[in-house]
Amino acid sequence: MHCRPGFESEVAAEMQELSAQKGIAGYPITRDGAAVVRFVCPEDGDAGRLMRKLDFRQLIFVRQWAVGTWLDVPADDRISPIISACAKGPIASSMWLETADTNDGKALAALTKKLGRPLETALTKTRFVRPAKTDAPRLHVFFESGERLFVGWSWAGNAAPWPMGIPRLKVPRDAPSRSTLKLEEAWHHFIPRDEWDKRLAPGMTAVDLGAAPGGWTWQLVNRHMKVTAVDNGPMAKSLMDSGQVEHVEADGYMFKPKKPVQWLVCDIVDKPARSSAMLSRWLTRGWCREAIVNFKLPMKQRYREVMQCLEHVQDALDEANIRAHIACKQLYTDREEVTCHVRILHAASYKVEQ
Ligand SMILES: C[S@@+](CC[C@H](N)C(=O)[O-])C[C@H]1O[C@@H](n2cnc3c(N)ncnc32)[C@H](O)[C@@H]1O
Repeated sequence: MHCRPGFESEVAAEMQELSAQKGIAGYPITRDGAAVVRFVCPEDGDAGRLMRKLDFRQLIFVRQWAVGTWLDVPADDRISPIISACAKGPIASSMWLETADTNDGKALAALTKKLGRPLETALTKTRFVRPAKTDAPRLHVFFESGERLFVGWSWAGNAAPWPMGIPRLKVPRDAPSRSTLKLEEAWHHFIPRDEWDKRLAPGMTAVDLGAAPGGWTWQLVNRHMKVTAVDNGPMAKSLMDSGQVEHVEADGYMFKPKKPVQWLVCDIVDKPARSSAMLSRWLTRGWCREAIVNFKLPMKQRYREVMQCLEHVQDALDEANIRAHIACKQLYTDREEVTCHVRILHAASYKVEQ
């Protein structure tokens, strides 16, 4: 499993809890800062079973995953052992060469670049990779070092759609801050592309709490929404000139919308418990239908803290008899934080309270 460097123990805690829930024995092996975690299932076939039983979207700290085996390879012929390992696995539709998202990983770039073409040729010749088999899994060849690598597989519907789970998103030229990518990546992660036109539709209304200088507001404006941007700090002039933004200088945690909106987004740096309480209030009072809120994480007990926040939101929704879909992910663009998404599906007695 790939993760953000420094979050290996969160991945370990998450996988231990989930594997126990699914009744599959396994244990994590972690090294701080490695940006990858191994989860070892000693019983034959259990790792694949665990992967099938888990929904990748449910995983918070895992960026990408694959099931497979580790190999030691000699420096003078790395390809033959990879081909032998592929002979024992499923046919793949494509191959991704990966390293860890660390400086050590980056140092392997020259090697993976050199190996990419000949390895792909060998794999298509031996027919262990067949691009026409579009429903086949992807093959991941992960280099821990020049002599140690992992050969594994992931299935497109149950894994990240990018190598190492890293999306290739570019900061739009006129966006006022790099943070703009956080909301864009969140949409890519939480909203299927074919639903964007319906769920991120022109004319919708949105509130952006902690909006300045306006990276997230820029994304909403770019989808032609009308945005109330709440922040005591200044908003970028270009956004205010769009005529689609109302800037309210106020405390985001105290702010109440005059009318319900479709979208609430919040990127305020504060205690996660404050943000989850605010999110619960918005959802249960009918102030928004869909929300994306960042939870800034403390230094310790980060997995526990996130789970408590999510439980708090779920409890509040249950109590209000509101059925909703809650998801949470540490996105590539997230640093010491995770992004929570909630979409209201059905509210039994849905009414707006002030
Ligand atoms: C990480 S920045 C937001 C960046 C923004 N999402 C963007 O893309 O440009 C956090 C913002 O939250 C604001 N902030 C902090 N506490 C706040 C509060 N209680 N209410 C409203 N805004 C707050 C800060 O002024 C700051 O502009």
